[in-house]
Amino acid sequence: MHEQEQEPSAEGGPWWREAVFYQLYPRSFADANGDGVGDLDGILARLEHLVWLGVDALWLSPFYRSPMADFGYDVSDHCDVDPIFGDLAAFDALLTEAHALGLRVIIDWVPNHTSDQHPWFLDAASSRDSEHRDWYVWRDPVEDGSPPNNWVAAFDLTAPAWTFHEPTGQWYLHLFDPAQPDLDWDQPAVVRAMHEVLQFWLDRGVDGFRADVLHTIGKFPDLPDDPPPVAGIPHCALNDVPVTHERIRAIRSLIDSYPDDRVLVGEIYLMTTDAIASYYGDGDEVHLAFNFPALYAPWDADRWRAAIEETEATLGSRGAWPTWVLSNHDNPRHRTRYDRAAIHRGEDAATTARRSEARARAAAVLLLTLRGTPFLYQGEELGLLDADIRPEQALDPGSRDGCRAPLPWDGSAGHGWSTGPGAGIDPWLPFPPEADVRNREALHTDPNSILHLYRRLLAVRRATPELRAGELELLDTPPGVLALRRSLGAGVCHVVINTTDAEVELSGVLVPVGSTLLIASDDLGRTGAARATSTDRFMLGADQAIILTV
Ligand code: GLC
Repeated sequence: MHEQEQEPSAEGGPWWREAVFYQLYPRSFADANGDGVGDLDGILARLEHLVWLGVDALWLSPFYRSPMADFGYDVSDHCDVDPIFGDLAAFDALLTEAHALGLRVIIDWVPNHTSDQHPWFLDAASSRDSEHRDWYVWRDPVEDGSPPNNWVAAFDLTAPAWTFHEPTGQWYLHLFDPAQPDLDWDQPAVVRAMHEVLQFWLDRGVDGFRADVLHTIGKFPDLPDDPPPVAGIPHCALNDVPVTHERIRAIRSLIDSYPDDRVLVGEIYLMTTDAIASYYGDGDEVHLAFNFPALYAPWDADRWRAAIEETEATLGSRGAWPTWVLSNHDNPRHRTRYDRAAIHRGEDAATTARRSEARARAAAVLLLTLRGTPFLYQGEELGLLDADIRPEQALDPGSRDGCRAPLPWDGSAGHGWSTGPGAGIDPWLPFPPEADVRNREALHTDPNSILHLYRRLLAVRRATPELRAGELELLDTPPGVLALRRSLGAGVCHVVINTTDAEVELSGVLVPVGSTLLIASDDLGRTGAARATSTDRFMLGADQAIILTV
């Protein structure tokens, strides 16, 4: 299937264990037709950026037909492209070109719910006797007219996960927006239909799927209330039901029946690594799952150490392969999160911006040297902050617009977004802060930029088997410092990350005599912070990270 030569893997395992993924949010990556919304041709035209950067695989958030109540996670046709993004021919062209350039492509698959405008739901809502009625979860009102249980939907914590459908006199379940009714996976016809969606895209040549809230496709048959201590937390973060594992095993068998190591990445939106780990099964459920506790960890060495220890213990004991992610389309960007933390300390804006960039750079070193598969989110390689969204600009029902701002490609007024036939149209959301100086073109010309740091890190990772596939050991450190030892055969690297605001001198086991500096997050020499103070001592700057070969 792939014409390009694959890099030999250090371990001889499947490609996705050593790959670095890059998440594309198609609405906001690049706009080829100048209508202010990104599209598949826009991605095609910018693939060169991703090749230059050095990632291995792309994950595309939904581009299917959708009324866009949840910007594509409300699918009205799983097997077609929404006209705003292009058409199936544009998808095929993108996939072919990505493969030719050596990039794998996985796509989002949204199994738990459809749009309320999907023909299945339109039919289901047409009458209680309709063919598709039981494809969705309907319940009669309880006596006092209230919803069937106490579940809360995801975006509006004051709202039940149920909407009453007057014409047919029943409530329907939606763990997300009312425009996203939940499918009933107890129905064999639903299972078959959703498997057919997978086959449609596998036959087209995709390398796998990121399965949206995959842990929600099984529910307890009597839909019991969430217990009082957790009632009020969106039910999607609580739903953890044994039957789901069986359903995922069937999905996995289907995916494994195709050649070339297609991959199933689960969005298992549960709040402990232990709970998430169970969805790897005995190597027969998801290949990979996002690790949300790490995504939510603040910039703090102790918290990261705990997240890493827990991940190594819970996944390691099952032989499951970890993933690491700092940002995605559902959460404030990590630089913004670290920025806010600094604001709370009462710093002035310029200091905060400098510090949060230093932290974002050090975090890139951490993300790309942990044991597991890293996922980058578009724009983190530019050190983007979330856009400031004024109330009248807000669009998303889940208040996630800030991290979804369009990627600034250059310093022109339209930042590369208004060159097509509709030139002059504003993009669908405002740009992130400082787009005139913090854009791809400007950072590309600055070898000290965070963009070049990401590129160097990806190159070092590619060239260093112990970083891709080696063992991980946490080393003892001074307070506020995190240190990883990565080793494979004779190859050994130390990664040391200072999460504090002060310089720290490293010595002893952290910097064995003869160590050489491979990468410093703030770029060696520019701030002068990382320097050897003698043959076995090293000065690490505030919020600085280094990789040493030892
Ligand atoms: C997942 C997606 C999110 C979406 C939700 C409902 O969490 O990442 O963007 O709103 O599922 O599909």
